[in-house]
Amino acid sequence: MDGSVRLEEVVMRFGDFTAIDKMSLEIGSGEFFSFLGPSGCGKTTLLNMIGGFLTPSEGRVSIGGEPMAGVSVNRRPTAMIFQNLALFPLMTVFENIEFGLEVRGVDRRTRRATAERLLALVALEGVGQRRVTELSGGQKQRVAIARALAVEPRVLLLDEPLSALDLKLRQHMRSELKAIQRKTGITFIYITHDQGEALTMSDRVAVMSAGRLQQVADPMTLYRQPATGFVAAFVGENNRIEARVIDRLGERVRLDAGALGELEGRVGDEASLGGGAEVALYVRPEQLRPVAAGTSGDASMGGSTLVAEVESVSFEGAWLMVQARLAGSGEALRVQLGSEVSRSFADALVPGEAITLGYDPAETVVLPRDGSPRVDEATGEVVEAADV
Ligand SMILES: Nc1ncnc2c1ncn2[C@@H]1O[C@H](COP(=O)(O)OP(=O)(O)O)[C@@H](O)[C@H]1O
Ligand SMILES: [Mg+2]
Repeated sequence: MDGSVRLEEVVMRFGDFTAIDKMSLEIGSGEFFSFLGPSGCGKTTLLNMIGGFLTPSEGRVSIGGEPMAGVSVNRRPTAMIFQNLALFPLMTVFENIEFGLEVRGVDRRTRRATAERLLALVALEGVGQRRVTELSGGQKQRVAIARALAVEPRVLLLDEPLSALDLKLRQHMRSELKAIQRKTGITFIYITHDQGEALTMSDRVAVMSAGRLQQVADPMTLYRQPATGFVAAFVGENNRIEARVIDRLGERVRLDAGALGELEGRVGDEASLGGGAEVALYVRPEQLRPVAAGTSGDASMGGSTLVAEVESVSFEGAWLMVQARLAGSGEALRVQLGSEVSRSFADALVPGEAITLGYDPAETVVLPRDGSPRVDEATGEVVEAADV
């Protein structure tokens, strides 16, 4: 049996609440596949249906081409790493890793050999006799991975496994997980609300909101060609400018942005966006570049300029983050300026000053206006699509 996973019109209802709404998807054998979405969007529910902990209200889950309806957790070719790891704290590392094998009646010698091989795989040789309580957070994480791999799953299900670790360790574990996945060739289905994790590790990412798929793509495509306003705002940072289409030539559109004047942008595959369409133009902070005041028309940046008033500037080492407000609309604009910006220009960025910014329309995305995604006031993060 291979490690491919197929969801066909899967629905999960809790009472009259629909947690997963007709989801269809295919995950390839050996793929590192992530589900990315805000808390409460249905990620754990989905993983539980794949692992057999929940039975879908409707639809089918197949693994390796075999329908999983009626197949219990223990008989599925899956293993799960839970958010809280769920290790047995009073047992030794060996006992934890060997547990699943013991249940399956594997003999002692084979169990120990397997555990030792897996400890080497997760770079934890020599700790087999220690108790779990004696390990650091990162070591526990590795034991959980080794324990899950011991039963030789074709598919490993990981529910936000790094969320309990501190930032440094979390970043280190990303490359470890990716390396383990490559070495074993097992399908990894990883769920997270952390876009950094999803983008750095995954072959493909499914962005979810309110129980539905927003977009399924490789990380670069998600970032450069978001398919919906939700993805544009949730994956990376984006400035959103409302506008109306004036006209269009191929991918390039001319936009009437009201008080901001005329701007240009790029439409993706959206064929329906013709003259008059209500749209949102998304320009990433790092796409904005200072240009000389009064610049307009198709100068080096290809045409579009924005004038904004500086509110605050923070020095982040490799770049400057400028928080500004657009002249005309008063909307917030985030600008990320890199090392190409001269010291004298940076020094002149003081609150209250006007700056003129240009961008390359080819690096933007214009999408139908689907209501602005809801942004958490405290964190500035997208929490849910406004209307889908
Ligand atoms: N057993 C359950 N009974 C009722 N509602 C549930 C149950 N499990 C999850 N939910 C609801 O389904 C939604 C999705 O939950 P979950 O899959 O845990 O989200 P995520 O893992 O993305 O944070 C949430 O609104 C949650 O409250
Ligand atoms: Mg969850």
